[in-house]
Amino acid sequence: MLSMRLLEPITINGMEMQNRVVLTAMVTRLSGADGFVNENIRERYLRFARGEPGLIVVEAMGVHAAKSGPLLRLSDDKFIPGLRDLAKEVHDISPSKIVPQIIHFLKIARSGWRQRVRDLTKEDIRLIIVAYGDAAHRARVAGFDGVELHMAHAYTLSSFLSLRNKRPDEYGASLENRMRLMGEVIARCREKVGEDFPIGVRFDGEECIKNGYTVEDSKELALRMAMLGVNYISISAGGKFEDAIKKEGEPLYPYTGYSGDRCMPSATYPAGDNVYLAEGIKGYINSKGYTTPVITTGKIPTPDFAESILQAGKADLIGMARALLADPDWVKKAKKGRADTIIRCVYGNVCKNLDENFKTVFCTLWPRGKIQAPTSSDDVAPEWPNGGRLEARPEAGRILLSWDEATDNEEIYGYEIFRSRNDEPFDHHTAVRSVTRKFADTRVVGGDRYSYYVKAYDLAGNRSPATQTVVVDFPIGVPLPVGEPLPEIRCGESSPDDEE
Ligand SMILES: Cc1cc2nc3c(=O)[nH]c(=O)nc-3n(C[C@H](O)[C@H](O)[C@H](O)COP(=O)(O)O)c2cc1C
Ligand code: SF4
Repeated sequence: MLSMRLLEPITINGMEMQNRVVLTAMVTRLSGADGFVNENIRERYLRFARGEPGLIVVEAMGVHAAKSGPLLRLSDDKFIPGLRDLAKEVHDISPSKIVPQIIHFLKIARSGWRQRVRDLTKEDIRLIIVAYGDAAHRARVAGFDGVELHMAHAYTLSSFLSLRNKRPDEYGASLENRMRLMGEVIARCREKVGEDFPIGVRFDGEECIKNGYTVEDSKELALRMAMLGVNYISISAGGKFEDAIKKEGEPLYPYTGYSGDRCMPSATYPAGDNVYLAEGIKGYINSKGYTTPVITTGKIPTPDFAESILQAGKADLIGMARALLADPDWVKKAKKGRADTIIRCVYGNVCKNLDENFKTVFCTLWPRGKIQAPTSSDDVAPEWPNGGRLEARPEAGRILLSWDEATDNEEIYGYEIFRSRNDEPFDHHTAVRSVTRKFADTRVVGGDRYSYYVKAYDLAGNRSPATQTVVVDFPIGVPLPVGEPLPEIRCGESSPDDEE
C-alpha cells in the first residue's frame, strides 16, 4: 500500500472513513419515478462500493413527494426498506461508508415557468424544514452512516442562499437572511438525528452566474455551517437555472449554461479548476478555529493530483464523480500502487448529457450497451502485433494520428494517447474507445514540436507497451489551396464523447 495522505483514514463525527476519497452524488436515472431502490440502482452502488472509496454519497433523493423525472426518494417511511438493504449490502462487501444526499426542489414546467423562492409562503418554508428533518431521520433509521443536505446548484436551499434571493422578508436579500433557512434546516435535522450522526452539507463555493455570490460569501456560509455543527462541507460550483439554455417544450436543465460547465468541467477546463473555492473556504474557517473537513470536487483525475491538493492543505477530502464512474476501482488501484491501470475519464460529459435528457447515466467508455462499469481481474496486458505503427501528420491546422489494432486475451477497451510538447515530459492527453484508432489533435500551435505515443488498455486497465514515438514539427498556418474546403473531422476522430 502506498503512503499517501489520500489513503489515510479520517473520522467524521464517529464515521470512520478508510481513505479521503468521496464519491460525490451523481444522479443515475436508474430509478423509476416511483423513487424506490431497484436492482440497477443496487448494482450501481455495489459496483462503486467494491472500489472502496472512503465515502459514497448516494445520488440526490427527494425529501418531498413533488413530481419529477426518475429520482430516488426519502420522503416516506415506505422507502426505508429498500434503502436499508442497499446500505447494509454496501457495508457487507466494502469498508466504504455510505450517506444519502437529500434534496428539495421547486416546481418547474415545460413552458419555462419555474417557482421562485419569493413564491413560497411561510407555511411552505415550514414544510421544507419538516421534510428535511424527517428525511434525515429516515436516513439514520435506514442504516446509513450519515446524511448530506443538498444546498448546491439549482435547488431550493441553494436558491435561498443565492445572492439573487431578494425575498423582502427575513428569508432574503441580506446575507444573514439568506442563511436563515439553511440554519433552520440544519438545526431541525440535528434535532431529528441526534448529535452522534454525521450531517454533511453540499453547497456552491461560487454560483458562477451574473450577480451570483462568489467565494467571498461562501466563506461566510461555510463558517456558519461549521458553527452550526455540520460535520463536513462539500464544495461544488454553479449548476444554476439562471443561465440555463431553454429547449422548446423541455423543462429547464440547470447545467446547460456556463454555470453548468463550471459544475461539471469538461475537457477544455484545467484539472482542479474549482479547488480555489475549497482552498479559500477551508483557509477561512480554519482561521476562525473550525476544523470541519472540506471536500473539493471538479475534474480531479489522478491520485497524484489529488494528493498534491491535500499536501498543499487546500482541502481535507477529495470529491470525485465522473472519474469514479469511468473507473469505480480508482481507489483500489491507487491503494495497490497501480494508478497506471486507472481507466481515465476524458471529461467529454456524455454522462451529463444523458442526465440532461433523463436517460440512464452510463460512461461512454464502458463497453457498448452496458449500464454498469465492467469488472475484470485480468493481469495480461494488451500487445501490438505490428508494434502499433503509429502515424501522425499535420493537416488543416490539426495533427491527425492513426495506429494499428492491438490485441488482448480479454478485450481491448480503449487507446490512450500521450503527448509531449517541445520535448517536455509526456503526459496523458486523452483516450478513445477501442472502436476508433484515429485521433485528431486540435490543440496544437504552429511552430511547436509534438511527440506522441499510444498505449492500448484492456477492461482491467492493463496497458500495452507504448507504440513507437512519432514527432511532428507543426508548421505555422499551413496554407490550404485557395477555395479548397477544410477536410471534415469525422466523429470519433477527436474524442469518444463527440460521437454521442
Ligand atoms: C451525471 C451527473 C449527475 C450528477 N448528479 C449530482 C447530484 O445528484 N448531486 C450533486 O450534488 N451533484 C451531482 N453531480 C455533480 C457531481 O457530484 C460533481 O460535483 C461534478 O461532476 C464535478 O466533479 P467530477 O469532475 O469529479 O465529475 C452530478 C454530475 C454528473 C456528471
Ligand atoms: S461519459 Fe465521459 S465525462 Fe462521463 S465519466 Fe465517462 S469519460 Fe467521464
